[in-house]
This record gives sequence, structure tokens and C-alpha cells, in this order.
Amino acid sequence: MRVLSGIQPSGAVHLGNYLGALRQWAQQQSNNSYYCVVDLHALTLPISPADLQRHTLELSATLFAVGLDPNVATVFVQSQVPHHTRLSWILECVASYGELSRMTQFKEKADRQDGFSAGLFTYPVLMAADILLYDAQRVPVGDDQRQHLELARNLAERFNNRYGETFVVPEGFFPPVAARVMDLQEPTRKMSKSVSSPLGAMGIFDSEADIRKKIMKAMTDTDGEVRFDWDAKPGLANLLEIFSAFSGETPDTVASRYERYGDLKKDLADLVVAHLAPITQRRDDLLADKGELNRLLSIGAARAEVIAEATYRRAASAVGVN
Ligand code: AMP
Ligand code: TRP
Repeated sequence: MRVLSGIQPSGAVHLGNYLGALRQWAQQQSNNSYYCVVDLHALTLPISPADLQRHTLELSATLFAVGLDPNVATVFVQSQVPHHTRLSWILECVASYGELSRMTQFKEKADRQDGFSAGLFTYPVLMAADILLYDAQRVPVGDDQRQHLELARNLAERFNNRYGETFVVPEGFFPPVAARVMDLQEPTRKMSKSVSSPLGAMGIFDSEADIRKKIMKAMTDTDGEVRFDWDAKPGLANLLEIFSAFSGETPDTVASRYERYGDLKKDLADLVVAHLAPITQRRDDLLADKGELNRLLSIGAARAEVIAEATYRRAASAVGVN
């Protein structure tokens, strides 16, 4: 099964990215898996060139550090394969203005900015190009990407109807637990790099002291009963889901072991620290040898390009361009 996913190098990787995306990529990798650091997507919001370059390299190191094996999966940087933007243009001419205007993530991001680029608006089409270029059958992503994935499916079907069978219609794959890790301070909104407060988002490379502090200070409620209930107790439910994602038990089983929030939080902090420390170490080792890291990425890009080129050729000739 051909699998593809992407992640933006737009800032520190948080627990939501890790549990909702990266960890599953590593668990499910095969030599038919393609994982892309989507640096072109990060240009949709203001970012300095130096930050973009640094984040791209750090995130690439992170993908290897969480367990993606360059001898198994293909890990590459989006801008190193020129066909993404080329196919994106063709797909922009298949997408409608109306359907892009309905993208909720666009509306949210646009509302938060004084002005916004046309790229922020067309971004879901570039994402569709990322997916369709690789004939991806399965696209593992967090819950927040459902609408974008549906757009990719619609564009593939519309293109195939209009120009003849060209693209594989991809399926989304959403993680069973921790598909939506919530903000630790405002548990009714998702943890996010751009919106969450410093205490609300936990970076996977946060110091041990910060990890402990953020968990101990996580917002819960005052009734004091340990029970898994998203509606009545969202803060606690979020902690139980995170616990469950790391320990492999169900959230109810975890809840049944505790009488007090403080004990649960302390054990959760130990669990998270023990799990994340070796990942931080591996990432630091990789970043200490940038030559080797860049070598791995250029191998990934070369492998990706072979596939991207073939699909692009099919699409370009279907519409009548080169
Ligand atoms: P982004 O940081 O928006 O580029 O997201 C990278 C990946 O992490 C995507 O697959 C997202 O769906 C996933 N993701 C982002 N935030 C969360 C969250 N709070 N919970 C679960 N998954 C998330
Ligand atoms: N839009 C996705 C996000 O913000 C990132 C992304 C870009 C992606 N291209 C992709 C995800 C292709 C899956 C497949 O999270």
C-alpha cells in the first residue's frame, strides 16, 4: 500500500503532531511509505528565510529521530522535488474558487492575520498535489486535515472524469487515540503551534522540567473525580488520552487506577519524559552531522522524484501541456 504524508516545518513539533502523526508514520513505515517535510507550505504564513531553513533541517532530523528508517521509508523535502508546484498549478485550474473558500482552516488562519497571501488560500491544492503525485492510497493525518483530504479526493475524481484515469483517489487514515490532542490550558481547542499559549502546547523537545511543569499545571476541573468523560471533564480526558497513547492501555483503564489528579499527572509526566528523552538525543546526534543528514535527504528526494516525474507526465499530457 502506497502511503504518503507531510508535515510543515513551521515551528516546534508538539505532542499533537507526534501522537497524531509522526509516531504513526514510524510505526507503519514500509518501503512504500513517503514522508515529506512540506517547506513550501510553511511559506503561506510569515516566516524568515533563516527560520524556514533551520526548521526544515530540524524537522527532517526529527522524522529520522522518531524512528523513520531511511533504508525503509522515503523521507524528503518538498521543495527538492519540483513537480509539487508544477502539478499544483494544473490542479488549481481544476479546483473551484467556491470549494477553496469553504476550507475552515483557511478561514480560521485568514481571520487571525491582518492580510494574507494567495498561497494561504490555494494551500489545500498544493497538499492535494503532494498526495496525488505519489499515487498515495493512504494518507495518515490528524483529524484537522479531514476537509483537505476530502478536497484531494474530489480533485482526483474530477480530474479523472474530465481528462481520463490519471490519479489514484486517496483515503485518509486517522489515528484511533489522540487523533486530536487538546491544548493543556484550554482543553476545548486543539493543541497548536500557532495558537496555544506556552503552557498549553508541549513541544516534544521541551526540557524535562518544562514537560513536568506543563503536565502538573494542566487545566482540569474542580470536582476531583477521576473518570474519562470528554463532555464533562475535557482537561482530564485529554490527559487520559495522552496517557493511553503512551502506555497502550485504554483511557478508562488508566482512569480506574487513580483517585487523585495529582498522582495521575505525576505518573503521566514520568511516562512522557521517559518516552521523549531518547528521541531528543537521536535528533541532536543527527543535527550534529548536517552533511550526513543532507545526504539522507538527497537520497530521499531522488527516490521521490522518480515517482513524481512519472505521475506529473501523465497529468501534464492528459491536460495537453508539458
Ligand atoms: P501541522 O503542524 O499543522 O503541520 O500538523 C502536522 C500533523 O500533525 C498533521 O497530520 C496534523 O493533522 C497533526 N496535528 C496537528 N495538531 C494536532 C493535534 N492537536 N492533535 C493531533 N494531531 C495534530
Ligand atoms: N496540510 C498539512 C498540515 O498542515 C500538511 C501537509 C501538506 C500534508 N501536504 C500534505 C499532509 C500531504 C498529508 C499529505 O498538517
